[in-house]
Order: sequence, then structure tokens, then C-alpha cells
Amino acid sequence: MKIALLTSGGDSPGMNPAIRAIVRTAAFNKIKIYGVRSGYKGLIKGDLVELNVNSVGDIIQRGGTMLGTARSPEFETDEGIEKALNVLNVYNIDGLIVLGGDGTFMGAEKLSKAGIKTVCIPCTIDNDLAYTDYTIGFWTAIETVTEAIGKLRDTSSSHGRANVIEVMGRNSGQLALYSALAGGGESIIVPEEDVDIDAICKKALRGRMRGKKHNLIIVAEGAGKAFDIADQIIDKTGIDTKVTVLGHVQRGGSPCAVDRILGSLMGRHAVELLMAGNTSIAIGVKENKIIDLNISQALEEKRDFNYSIYDTINILSI
Ligand code: F6P
Repeated sequence: MKIALLTSGGDSPGMNPAIRAIVRTAAFNKIKIYGVRSGYKGLIKGDLVELNVNSVGDIIQRGGTMLGTARSPEFETDEGIEKALNVLNVYNIDGLIVLGGDGTFMGAEKLSKAGIKTVCIPCTIDNDLAYTDYTIGFWTAIETVTEAIGKLRDTSSSHGRANVIEVMGRNSGQLALYSALAGGGESIIVPEEDVDIDAICKKALRGRMRGKKHNLIIVAEGAGKAFDIADQIIDKTGIDTKVTVLGHVQRGGSPCAVDRILGSLMGRHAVELLMAGNTSIAIGVKENKIIDLNISQALEEKRDFNYSIYDTINILSI
């Protein structure tokens, strides 16, 4: 049996531990394994390298992806898919494991329809794949954002300012939600809920009146631009308000223990699913158990917004 694996789309901390687990499980089972460089873009070009036990030594603790990643518009075309299928045939690949977010999963689904056995592992800091409780990289990103919120809280208090902190999440407020709770943020703006800028301003002024020095507003990038929100706060309250856009720093760093554990368990499971002849599968974690289901079923699921966390943030920052 021959397996290939690739990482695609935005990287996330924990991809490397998953790659390690895939390669080592394959080696344990005497399966030949190839790494594709730069995601689907590399697959189209035939940029494959054979991996072995040693290739993945000393990567469990590293952020990013040792295989490199890319976004590939060409792979979204029929010609792109044809080229990819051709490469997989030339290398005699029986199964492909892909690590990434929803776009990566859609690509795998197309390949599986064309006869390639595929298994997907959810890797994105956005945690926007609803079929799984958590995606790999999410908890590390929360740690990164929480640390940044803590640092901004120090300077916010010293100067008596408000600070608007923009975090990643194109269509999802998950990262904003969890890190605002962990960092003790005052207000949160997410795509899942309407923005009430007046309520945010009232809270800032109320806090000020009872002697609170800092005010931290966490904004998910998909919910609005941090600079616009800061301008509105200044206009409505007169409070000096600064902006920090955290950007790609959220995507890097050594994966935390949870992401390493998820990567290791899901990586092993992916190889074993292919060995058992499965195809078009998405792996996830639900209530602390590794699960797997059909890719299209996985992509259809919608995440319920977690009002328990949202309300807790508001209650605790009264
Ligand atoms: O998909 C993850 C994500 O981090 C989004 O939250 C963000 O909008 C996007 O990737 C940024 O992608 P890129 O690295 O291509 O700019």
C-alpha cells in the first residue's frame, strides 16, 4: 500500500505532530508514505517526497508544517483536479490524507469522487468545522491570544485606555469567544451576534465610574474592522482607545499539549482508516473521543453559537 499526505490552506500549530503520527503509523505498518510539498499546489506539480521514521524526528514541538502549505486556485478547476489525479496515478497512491480546513476538505471530496481514497484531519485555528468539537491549532491560538490580551491589559490599565483587539476568524467568532473568556475581556464582537456598540460604550463608561482602569474589546475579524470600532468608541465615550490587530502571530508557535495529542491520535486513526479501505472520511473529536464520518456530512453541520460562554463573558465583566 502507498499513502500520500499534504497540508493545505492556512497552517495551524499541531500540523507537525499529526504529520509525525501519520508517517510513524505508516512505517509501523510497513506502508510506503509520501509527503506532498505545498498542499494541492504541490500535488498538481508532482512535488512529492518519500518520508520515513527519521523524516519526522524532532517535529512534534514545532509550529507550522514541515511540508509547507499553499492556497491553490488551480486545484479548484477541472484541469487542476485532472493533473492531481494524474500525479497520484503515476505514484500509484492508494490513499491520500489531507490536513486543513473546509476548503481542503472540499478538495479531498472531489478526489474521492474520482476514485482516490481520502481521509481529512481538521487543522485550522478558526475552529469553524462544526462536526468536531475542536480543530487542531485552535487551543494553541487561544493561548497566544490570551497571552496578548494579558499584555494589553497591563498597558490598558496603566494608561486608563480602552483597547480593541482584532483576532482571526473570517466567518467564526470561536477564537474571540474562548480567548475573551480566558483573558477576562470586557466586550466581544463576533459574526454570530449583532454588534451593540452602545452597550459596549455604556459598559466602558460604567467601568470607569467604578474605578476600572482598563477596557478590552475582542473583535473577530469577520465581525468588523477594529479601527472602525475604536473610532466609534472614541466618538461616543471620549475614552482614548487603541487598536491591536494580532494577525498571523496567531497561526504560529509551538503546539500546546492538547493540539499535539489531537494531532497524534487523529494521525494514527487516519492511516488505520485507509488500511481498512475507507474513503471520503473526516476525522474529529466529540466529547473527548476520536470520531469519523463522511466528508459531505461533516461539511453540512452548523455549529450552535455557545451562548453559555458569550453570556459568561458579559456577566463576569459587569
Ligand atoms: O483560515 C484561517 C485563517 O486564519 C482565517 O481566520 C484568516 O482570515 C485567514 O486564515 C488568513 O489567511 P491567509 O494566511 O491566507 O492570509
